[in-house]
Amino acid sequence: MARKGRMLYEGKAKRVYETDAPDLCIVEYKDDATAFNGAKRGVIAGKGAVNNRMSNVFFRVLEDHNVATHFVEELSERETLVRRVAIVPLEVVVRNLAAGSMAKRLGLAEGLELARPIVEFYYKNDALGDPLITDDHAEILGLATPADLAAIRQEALRVNDVLRPFLAERGVLLVDFKLEFGRDSAGRLLLADEISPDTCRFWDVKTRERLDKDRFRRDLGGVEAAYQEMWRRVSEVEAR
Ligand code: TMP
Repeated sequence: MARKGRMLYEGKAKRVYETDAPDLCIVEYKDDATAFNGAKRGVIAGKGAVNNRMSNVFFRVLEDHNVATHFVEELSERETLVRRVAIVPLEVVVRNLAAGSMAKRLGLAEGLELARPIVEFYYKNDALGDPLITDDHAEILGLATPADLAAIRQEALRVNDVLRPFLAERGVLLVDFKLEFGRDSAGRLLLADEISPDTCRFWDVKTRERLDKDRFRRDLGGVEAAYQEMWRRVSEVEAR
């Protein structure tokens, strides 16, 4: 089994460690939560375990649908072995319904269904507050080539095509979500980071109750219960 070596990186919600294999890392999920670029901080008890296990369910389902991901093996409740990648410094957001920053920026009602899923690119840069950028910006900043962007866009929409019905079966509307991609040492583009209530908007299909991090961002209460409810829905049906 891979052993945890030196810590390579500590983010807001995860730590990443080296292992004895140069092309593998261990990701450790924390209960710490931040919002608004770190301006709001808190702890969501049990979040690390939910986000780790839920991300891994999604990565396995995506691998079954030929989406290449960094996932290798779940090691414990909070730890997963992943392929080591250089992260492309883009936050790739897919939206099915208008919500959050898009609703605000464009003056749309939250919950408005979009005519088709859309993809947005944000520059992953905390000092700048992760600004929304155009393809041209990404290219002139040297973040990604036009070919990279086309591949990332296509892969992000495929993730949506797989996860939307998977979640619908579990009574969950996939409103929007954020992905990150990376390249392994061979240059292969892999889906990386996490897919969890921290990085997605999940609404109950019938009541439109929010089952995600917006409960923390917007002080709606019931934060821990929402994470546990999402895990129940994702894991129970999987175990059938
Ligand atoms: P937004 O509407 O605030 O731009 O968020 C779009 C999606 O991206 C939503 O599902 C939450 C997720 N997200 C992150 O994962 N990290 C972030 O830092 C932000 C701002 C959003």
